[in-house]
Formats: sequence, structure tokens, C-alpha cells
Amino acid sequence: KPLFIGADIGGTTVKLAFITHEGHITDKWEITTNRTDNGKYIIKEIAESIHNRAAVLGLTPDQLTAAGVGAPGYIDVENGVIIEAVNLGWKNYGIKSELETLLHIPVIVDNDANLAAGGEKWKGAGEGADNLLAVTLGTGVGGGIIAGGEIIHGESGLAGEIGHITAVKSEGAPCNCGKKGCLETVSSATGIARLGREAAEEYKTGYLNDILTESGTVTAKDVFDGAKKGDETALKVVKESSTHLGFALANLANALNPETIVLGGGVSKAGSILTDNVIEAFKQFSIPKIAAETNINIATLGNDAGVIGAAWLARQKTTSL
Ligand code: BGC
Ligand code: NA
Ligand code: ZN
Repeated sequence: KPLFIGADIGGTTVKLAFITHEGHITDKWEITTNRTDNGKYIIKEIAESIHNRAAVLGLTPDQLTAAGVGAPGYIDVENGVIIEAVNLGWKNYGIKSELETLLHIPVIVDNDANLAAGGEKWKGAGEGADNLLAVTLGTGVGGGIIAGGEIIHGESGLAGEIGHITAVKSEGAPCNCGKKGCLETVSSATGIARLGREAAEEYKTGYLNDILTESGTVTAKDVFDGAKKGDETALKVVKESSTHLGFALANLANALNPETIVLGGGVSKAGSILTDNVIEAFKQFSIPKIAAETNINIATLGNDAGVIGAAWLARQKTTSL
């Protein structure tokens, strides 16, 4: 039984892959996330797509050991139940049992960012680190805590919800979780874009203002591009966002003492302009020994982190069965 299935369910696409026991992707593909009717077709479409792909590749059912599935939200990992995934429209939904019925193999479910942390630990920027903190800076901000080699889930599965750490106490922007001022509102791609647009509207001059006037919107990438060109308003936004992130990471590191912090997700493509600013705040707010010893790295697996982490967890859970 040489292969695992990795699935990483996002708000716009589901990433799928067949992965060996050594963590090597043999085949990967994507399907569109069908959010019609509160996402009730997503699991069926995933199973169908896996069956089709396996048939095309000539894989027989006995070549597939288990599937790992990541989803963006709060998860009861023991029962494979999605407690809530706002962006998919899921609430109290047992995806493990549904997918096991369709695939006839064990299915392991976990939070998307927890699995990305597992992927980066197994094969990426946190390779071999038994104490690792991984942050996914995408549409939302996700987090995964690995301590002693294992994902930390907490009492009800919500450990590692780093995106919802309160970053802005007063007049913070509303978050999808129902609170205001979450880290996600200032450090996700959406949050950085919003800060960029607000700054362009406020200062009415410079790179971001030009972009806004030309295209009607500002993206997170525009903000980092502007900052790299030395645009003052863009630099200010990068500083604001990174300071909140560095502050949150410092407090987390003071509590968890990780060997490595990995920054992933689309926003991490900004590279050193992001890490330099995050590290500056991190060092200011962490215990000197932690400031000196903690590595802060950009993720190396890109979009594959989730599926690789899904295979990592599926392997871990099924070899101990
Ligand atoms: C959700 C997390 C998820 C993250 C990234 C956040 O809004 O609360 O559960 O990991 O987005 O998808
Ligand atoms: Na998480
Ligand atoms: Zn929130």
C-alpha cells in the first residue's frame, strides 16, 4: 500500500495529491471548491475526483493507505467533525465519516494550518524541528503549533488559532470570527490590502494612491511592491502589519519556546521585506534568549505544505493503528 491521499480544502480551491510514505508527491491536482448550498457537495466532489484520478493513473484501491484532509476552521479531530468553517459554510459536519464511506480507507481530519505546520516540519522550512510554530498568511491567518513532535489541539481542537489573537484592542476591524481587531484583520492578505487601501485614501498621494486610482483596488502584493520601491505609505502599512505579527509571535514564543517559526501562505512570498520587519518587532517583545535563538523562516513548500502535512498526519495515525 504505497500511497497516501492529501487534501487541502480552501475557500476557492481544493488541493489534492497522492504522496508516498517518504513524503514525495507523485501526482497533484486541484478542483474548484463548490460552495453552493453551504458546501454540501464539496466532500462528494473530492471523493469523485480522487476516484477519477486514481483510475486514470491505473491505481488500484489497495494502493491507497489512508487520506489526510485539512480544512480552514475549528475541528474536532477525534471525530473528524468540522465544528465551524465560516468560509465553507460548514457547521457541525462529520466529514470523516462521510469521506470514509466514499473512499473505503481511513480518513484523518485536521485544521489546514495545523497540517501546513506538519508539512513544513516533515519536508520544509522546519524540517526536523520538534517544537515549531507555523503561521499561514493567506486570505485568513492560520496557525499550527507543534510541540514535542505533535500537533497541539488543546481541549476542544481550537489550539493554534493564531489568526484570532487580538492585535488591535481599540477600533479594530471586524473579523470573520465575530470579534474585532484580530491579527487576521491586519496580517492576512485581505487585511494588508484593506490597510493599503485605507492608507491610499488617507494620504491621497504615492504608489498605493496611483494603484487605487488606476485599478480601483489595492492588493497585499501592491503594498509589498510599493514598500520595495521605497514608497512611504506602503512602508508604513508593511511596518504596521509586521509589528502586530512580530508582537503576537513574540508572545507566543515566550510561552512555547519553539526552535523555528515558519511564515507561509501567499503573503510570505513578499520575502525579506516581511521577515525583516517581523523579526525587528519579534526581538523587541521576546525574552532575550528567545530573541537570540528562535529561527524565523519563510516556508519552503508553498502551496504543497497542506497536502504534505495531511499525508504526514495520515501516516503518523495509520502506522500507529
Ligand atoms: C481560521 C483558521 C484557518 C485560517 C487559515 C482562519 O480564519 O480561523 O481555522 O486555519 O483561517 O485558513
Ligand atoms: Na490551527
Ligand atoms: Zn477573528
